[in-house]
Amino acid sequence: MSFRLRAGLITTAVIGAGAVILSQGAAFAAPPAAPSHHSPAPADSLRSLAAQSGLRIGTAINTDLLASNDQYRAIAASQFSSVTPENVMKWEVVEPTQGTYDWAAADRLVAFAQQNDQLVRGHTLVWHSQLPAWLTAAAPSMTPDQLRAILKKHVVDEVTHFKGKIWQWDVVNEAFNDDGTLRDSIWLQKLGPGYIADAFRWAHQADPKALLFYNDYNIEFTGPKSNAVYQLVQDLKARGVPIDGVGFQTHLDTQYPLPDLLNNLQRFSKLGLKVAETEVDVRTTLPVTPVEQNAQVAGYTTTLQACLAVRACLSYTVWGFGDAYSWVPGVFPGEGAATIYDENLQPKPEYTALQQTLALAAGTPGRNNPRR
Ligand code: G3I
Repeated sequence: MSFRLRAGLITTAVIGAGAVILSQGAAFAAPPAAPSHHSPAPADSLRSLAAQSGLRIGTAINTDLLASNDQYRAIAASQFSSVTPENVMKWEVVEPTQGTYDWAAADRLVAFAQQNDQLVRGHTLVWHSQLPAWLTAAAPSMTPDQLRAILKKHVVDEVTHFKGKIWQWDVVNEAFNDDGTLRDSIWLQKLGPGYIADAFRWAHQADPKALLFYNDYNIEFTGPKSNAVYQLVQDLKARGVPIDGVGFQTHLDTQYPLPDLLNNLQRFSKLGLKVAETEVDVRTTLPVTPVEQNAQVAGYTTTLQACLAVRACLSYTVWGFGDAYSWVPGVFPGEGAATIYDENLQPKPEYTALQQTLALAAGTPGRNNPRR
């Protein structure tokens, strides 16, 4: 079967279904109404097709490109029903100087989302990376009480600033090593493992309606890391800590086998948690051969199929679009081509594979049978 589906076939498959974007569930308070200037998304767009399964399809957004590149902005608006700030809600960006907040870029993204009927995944409150320089410098000499107070202030202030505007928050990000031990971050060193539960409690107090997620990579595979996260969230639930979901980042590489993601989405959802794929991309060695491109298409297709198959899977988010703007080449030299649009922002076979997968799934669950 060719994965290059002609646009005409997709259009025929969904004609008559309209391009209505479904609300993702009554539990989430919709952001305040903003002036709406958008045009309806095309019926064969990813967001229109996903809506027919009650699924939000999202992307990470580079806010510099959103401001400077009309083509990027048009794709972001027309193809996706959820957005995640790639960097601008991270601590180093929002509090570059201690006590002085800069919400400007993040506020612009939230406004863009409201104008385009998109929900926002907030990313991320507690992480070991992209901390402000003032904090990294001062943390080693702080007492645990001082550091805890600073962390609490950060979580409360940021969640409060965006209260009512964030659908899902990545409250704690990447707290585990691949062997299942807790990462040796300043948070663990100074505060002990209790910082995780504290962060969820603080975030919930600041915005009781936001869905609160633990988010990590390499938990798509069953193994020490996903088992450790499973035990963590099971324990948090048992203790009444306000956690709502687990985000599976899903950064795949064609040199490794595909993960047993469906199994993991299912076992976490059976704990009574929502799940989401939060940062999907599929990198490969360059230049891309036909074999590798097939593997990339398989990576996107199977991860989307897994989300569609699990009712608790609320959203499928790609980690940016446009291979020229991906984080991958900077971190994995010699690898790239990880996104669903090429260097010229033209859709790749990976895009078409998502489109085809969504079209085939349309209707189950759907408007009258929502995800939950
Ligand atoms: O802030 C500076 C800016 O002042 C300067 O002009 C610019 C010049 O290159 O660099 C800027 O910082 C970069 C930042 O992105 C914003 O562009 C950092 O050097 C760069 O390291 C940073 O990379 C981000 C990375 O997280 C940091 O760890 C990537 O864009 C972003 O895609 C990536 O996203 C992470 C998720 O948050 C968590 N999961 C893994 C994922 C991929 O690493």
